[in-house]
Amino acid sequence: MVGHYNHILPVRRLQHKIEQARRLHHEADVVIVGAGILGCAVAVALGNQGRSVILLEKSLREPDRIVGELLQPGGVAALERLGLRECLEEIDAVKVYGYDVIYYGDEVRIPYPANAVEGGEEELAEKSRTDEMRGTKRKRPEGRSFHHGRFIQRLRQKAMQNPNVTVVEAAATELVRCSYTGKILGVEATVQSQPDSFFGDLTIIADGYASKFRKDFRPDLPVAKSKFWGLELIDAHLPMPNHGHVILGDGAPVLLYQIGTHETRALVDIPENLPSASLAAGGVKGHLRHVVLPSLPAQVQPSFAAALDRDRLRSMPNSWLPPTTNKTPGLILLGDAMNMRHPLTGGGMTVAFNDAVLLSELLSPSAVPSLNDTAVVITQMRTFHWRRKGLTSVINILAQALYSLFAANDAQLKALQMGCFRYFKLGGNCIDGPVGLLAGIIRKPFVLFYHFFAVALYAIWIYITAAGLAGLPVRLVGSVGVFWKACVVIFPYIYSELQS
Ligand SMILES: Cc1cc2nc3c(=O)[nH]c(=O)nc-3n(C[C@H](O)[C@H](O)[C@H](O)COP(=O)(O)OP(=O)(O)OC[C@H]3O[C@@H](n4cnc5c(N)ncnc54)[C@H](O)[C@@H]3O)c2cc1C
Ligand SMILES: *[C@@H]1O[C@H](CO)[C@@H](O)[C@H](O)[C@H]1NC(C)=O
Repeated sequence: MVGHYNHILPVRRLQHKIEQARRLHHEADVVIVGAGILGCAVAVALGNQGRSVILLEKSLREPDRIVGELLQPGGVAALERLGLRECLEEIDAVKVYGYDVIYYGDEVRIPYPANAVEGGEEELAEKSRTDEMRGTKRKRPEGRSFHHGRFIQRLRQKAMQNPNVTVVEAAATELVRCSYTGKILGVEATVQSQPDSFFGDLTIIADGYASKFRKDFRPDLPVAKSKFWGLELIDAHLPMPNHGHVILGDGAPVLLYQIGTHETRALVDIPENLPSASLAAGGVKGHLRHVVLPSLPAQVQPSFAAALDRDRLRSMPNSWLPPTTNKTPGLILLGDAMNMRHPLTGGGMTVAFNDAVLLSELLSPSAVPSLNDTAVVITQMRTFHWRRKGLTSVINILAQALYSLFAANDAQLKALQMGCFRYFKLGGNCIDGPVGLLAGIIRKPFVLFYHFFAVALYAIWIYITAAGLAGLPVRLVGSVGVFWKACVVIFPYIYSELQS
């Protein structure tokens, strides 16, 4: 059979052999478990570098999930660098220009910042100067929101079109480990209910939030203190089209964003053991109807009520899982399998695509000629762990800290929540900074630290000055509690990001 190819170029023959090794012998440079957000992106990135890739996915049908529906501008930029921007087309995606935060009915618009492109401050200043001279207005960064399943199918299509990637519908069941060296050699999997195996110099595990494999490599479990419950509203009248909506009030936050021409996603955060969502009080449906529905902007209530009558309720845990360094020879954990943060800020896919960019740089054939060279790969993975932090530590810490404030359940957190909203109302850098961080555009952990404590101090100032002269002594003492709370909110997350 090979003889048939003797007349074509040697390169083509080699290509054919490599393709056969994947298809018939199930051998490749890289085996990836999970054709989700991360798996598809990494498969294409490595395939483009000439690596031979086997991508395993337990179900290639279009997923129907309530996750991964809003991609921040920093994620769109990474997608573009991966050559995958087209995947945002033909899926009825909606442009996102920023956020609308509604606090007890009071509204503040938070557009993505115009000038906060990546690069040093000088570069920024230089850019805006030249823009001014040209008399052009800088294009503002844009995000996209869409149906998750449609986007995933586009990403999978791109992986399938890449000649260096073979996509196989297979559920990985077990890692194959070399009994002498401990190196991971590949995975065992079930293909059409038959056991099978796939081998690679490198195995990448990207099997998502409920990863089957992560527990073998780290002792800690994801922590989920709340769930998002999802509804799909039809023809909802949003206060600010083309914006993500965050609705704050007495309860935990509600998110609303359009995911198609007619569809809008509502995600309602419900903390564990919430009394108004208990079975006795009518369960989650009762909570959504009696507590959440009346707290929404009036114009959204009809479509929300209709969805409540029509839809089956669906939920997902909102997990926190700090990142860890991959130290196992032959194995890399990535995506939600390795690192998760609260989805309030819609950061997961932005992290995944930026990780795919960084990983493919660090493991490029010029840096790592053979992925079988375990020592070099492990060194590169240590670099990966620290270098990704400029973006990911910001997104991780911001998501957790903001959630603590937005789901405020005590007096100090309430004071910080109000401080945060009033800070946004100041406008200018008080919104450009925070939303630039959230969008994955500003990659500077210190900027996050600065804005967080600026919010805390502003909250304390409001708290103290809101009291009359008589209340002053009590409020001065109370302000220590507010400051302490701010520290308790953020420092554990900062600490977790400093771990190797
Ligand atoms: C409620 C909620 C809302 C969210 N909203 C957003 C948002 O708006 N924006 C955003 O950026 N992020 C959001 N996220 C986070 C985002 O969805 C994830 O960070 C992202 O999907 C992670 O990508 P992944 O590739 O690691 O996992 P996934 O995208 O989940 O992919 C994992 C893949 O692995 C496959 N798989 C699993 N086990 C196996 C196996 N044994 N063998 C073979 N295949 C397997 C699965 O079928 C799946 O295709 C949200 C998360 C939650 C919980
Ligand atoms: C596939 O790999 C080969 C080298 O094996 C490389 O020359 C080629 O550019 C890759 N193809 C694509 C589409 O990336």
